Amino acid sequence: MKDILKRITYLREEIGRHNDLYYNENNPEISDTEYDLLVKELEHLENENPLFVLKNSPTKKVSGFASSTFSQVKHKVPMLSLDNTYSKEEISKWYDRVVKKLSNDKREFVIEPKIDGLSATLTYVDGVLKVGATRGDGHVGEDITENIKTIKDIPLRLRIENPPTLFEVRGEVYINKTDFENLNKIILENGEQKFANPRNAASGSLRQKNPYVTSLRKLRFFAHSFGEIKGKNFNNQTEFLKFCKECGFCLQDDLKQTSSLDEIFQYIDTMLNKRDLFNYEIDGLVIKVDSFLDQKELGYTNKSPRWAIAFKFPAKQATTKLDKIRVQVGRTGIITPSAILDPVGLAGVTISHATLHNFAEIERLNVNEGDIVLVERAGDVIPKIVKVVRKNSKGFFKAPKKCPSCASDIVKENEEEVAYRCINPDCPAQFRRHLIHFVSRDAMDIEGFGISLIDQLLKEGKIHTISDIYHLTYEDFINLKLFKEKKANNIVQSILSSKSRPLSKLIFALGIRHVGEKTSEIIAERFNNIDTIFNASLEDFKKVPEIGEVLAVSLNNFFKNPSVCRVIDALKVVGVNMVEPNQEKVGSVFNNKIFVLTGELKNYTRENASEIIKSLGGKVLSSLSKKTDFILAGENVGSKLQKAKELNIKVIDEVKFEKLIKGQNAIL
Ligand code: IVH
Repeated sequence: MKDILKRITYLREEIGRHNDLYYNENNPEISDTEYDLLVKELEHLENENPLFVLKNSPTKKVSGFASSTFSQVKHKVPMLSLDNTYSKEEISKWYDRVVKKLSNDKREFVIEPKIDGLSATLTYVDGVLKVGATRGDGHVGEDITENIKTIKDIPLRLRIENPPTLFEVRGEVYINKTDFENLNKIILENGEQKFANPRNAASGSLRQKNPYVTSLRKLRFFAHSFGEIKGKNFNNQTEFLKFCKECGFCLQDDLKQTSSLDEIFQYIDTMLNKRDLFNYEIDGLVIKVDSFLDQKELGYTNKSPRWAIAFKFPAKQATTKLDKIRVQVGRTGIITPSAILDPVGLAGVTISHATLHNFAEIERLNVNEGDIVLVERAGDVIPKIVKVVRKNSKGFFKAPKKCPSCASDIVKENEEEVAYRCINPDCPAQFRRHLIHFVSRDAMDIEGFGISLIDQLLKEGKIHTISDIYHLTYEDFINLKLFKEKKANNIVQSILSSKSRPLSKLIFALGIRHVGEKTSEIIAERFNNIDTIFNASLEDFKKVPEIGEVLAVSLNNFFKNPSVCRVIDALKVVGVNMVEPNQEKVGSVFNNKIFVLTGELKNYTRENASEIIKSLGGKVLSSLSKKTDFILAGENVGSKLQKAKELNIKVIDEVKFEKLIKGQNAIL
């Protein structure tokens, strides 16, 4: 009993502390899910031990409060919270309860996205916005009228004739994901602490002393409910929302009306999949009984309506301990830190790693091994660290002075650069990465040559330079772990096939700084074989239109390096192809074809169309000649069309052009 009381007291205090961090400081330490878990645990303990229930327990009231920064506004109709759950089973139980309790058998529900923002209530008297307030503790909120008036989505005057004498509309103030990212960028540039998530950003921006600051923050608003209304009646939520739209408010596009539980579940799944596609943070869905008569029949608890429930999506943030910072050496010697975490559940999966980008990021976060951190998995696959929530260490993790693989010096090329680099060209870690890249699908594409095979071969001392790959024999493989006859034969065959890859693949495989797949193709097409490349001067590289200064210097340095010559010579000896076949790209009618554009195009600018043609292997010239293959003709064409006919050149219009882009070559 004593332990239970101890836990209850702890939970109340902890929930109170998190409420303060969330509502007052806009600086939460834990994710919504972790917070909800604390509340659920307290609710459970209180239900089991009614003697310990206090009237002012966080489970019995709406969280939040009205700060003294603003004057206070009393809500005539309390602003309640929503009961929430993460489980479909609970939704099903809620649905059954609702259906059972209603005296009619209409089952109409509306489902709305639950936008992660800050609730606000706006009072219009005779159609004019008079007061804007936050929810506060549900009974008393903060007067933020002047700040509210700076939000472009909020009409200062209702855009209808004969507005209700009193109309108190409630909704969510939020910030778009892109506006949030931009805001954080500016905040960082000013050397201030950035917001952990869009909800904090919205709240922090709305509760500014100076409305001018709010006006710069690109806040938005959508309507979802109401307080007091005089002079207007609605039958249901759908009607109310439609009226809000007429008045000039924004509504969510994704509203759903349904009567079946199955459809509710289907909608949950659809929205869960679409969640990352929205430009605003959705933390769940709100399912509401549509009819206001039915809502009245179902009523309220002291905290939330019985006629609605929020289905919350798995949180994208969680707190955990950063166990270790691992430093890895990349192909070009850049060393990158990454975080190894105490495994934690996040957005439906367990995560144990997070990216730290670079050492400047570590310094900015002031993070070190042992700290408790808030991690986030938003859209992107690899989670990132948002901030340190509890510092268990001193200072931040510094870049090592020596390479963790070869113990050579680690340097920063210049002060502006954020990257630290191991400068030893023979660094084993770099060579390992280099091998992984060389055999990869987009490079020499040696099927079956995976990382674990590379590690085994390195360990056994079978590979010291790139060309050693081509000296490996069946005997080398058959003796390795997990290799049987067939697998050993296959890999020997894959190595053999890779010798005939086009020059462009070999150039890409060499891993030259700043040289990606596209540039490799351009170089291969332009110079055609490896000897011309070796003989090219810096000027020759610069002459290629697609190659800029940085790239030209990088190419020149690379190919003038004697060790590169040695690598290439060794690859030549083992029979690796060194020329670019003059082959048409399969399926592309654009390849090596000359296009001339004429007339006005409807769906493309000339630049667009030219870019597309070029990216598909064609060329665009401005004047017509016998060598022209196609005329792309828009409207109001001039004399070119006549000349094209004389020269017997194919004319295609925009519709045909689009079909060719899609590969429907048969139309020609
Ligand atoms: S209806 C009685 N609809 O979620 C409360 N609320 O966790 C009626 N919220 O305080 C609210 N989207 O600020 C409603 N479509 C939506 C919502 C929504 C977000 C917020 C609202 C509320 C909180 C409850």
